[in-house]
Amino acid sequence: MPRVALYAGSFDPITNGHADLIRRSLRFVDHIVVAVATNIAKQPLFTADERTELIIAALDRDPRVEVREFQGLLVDFAKQSDIRMIIRGLRAASDFEYEYQMALMNRHLAPELETVFMVPSLDTTYISSSLVREIARFGGDVTGLVHPATAAALRTKDRKSTRLNSSHL
Ligand code: COA
Repeated sequence: MPRVALYAGSFDPITNGHADLIRRSLRFVDHIVVAVATNIAKQPLFTADERTELIIAALDRDPRVEVREFQGLLVDFAKQSDIRMIIRGLRAASDFEYEYQMALMNRHLAPELETVFMVPSLDTTYISSSLVREIARFGGDVTGLVHPATAAALRTKDRKSTRLNSSHL
């Protein structure tokens, strides 16, 4: 039986931190389903399709990485997909309380599901998608934080929003 894990998030956009966790997980699972949340309260910069494409590119089209969009509860998606392992990253002690609560709540909803916490590489622990978006918006350099394909997509978004803003002047 192949070992399959689920790694969920909004990935708006995927960062080198997410990619690091996925690669680390592939050392002990055969296949990872990356679940892109589409009904998050956050107003995303990238569409779900764009986020999916960027994840595939960031993982160099690794056939062991499958990207799927999901809505609703993560436990329901896991059940439908017949997956029993959820991967989460703990970047800092500040992540712990929220992650612990979410893991216990997911266990309450689906006792057959296990959450596995991973420690990301030290040089990615300070990365978050919203910081990356902010740096890109103000023209900062996101090299080393995201895959080159994501950096290019951020530049394209930035140019589009600049054009939109100036058309309103
Ligand atoms: N490297 C870099 N950044 C990371 C990271 C890592 N290893 N791990 C997390 N992050 C970033 C994310 O990009 C995100 O950044 P942002 O807030 O700046 O956009 C932030 O840390 C928080 O990540 P996370 O906690 O994974 O939030 P998320 O919005 O990406 O995903 C879901 C949260 C979708 C997994 C969760 O809300 C969910 O399961 N929703 C479905 C509904 C549900 O089942 N609810 C009940 C839960 S008990």
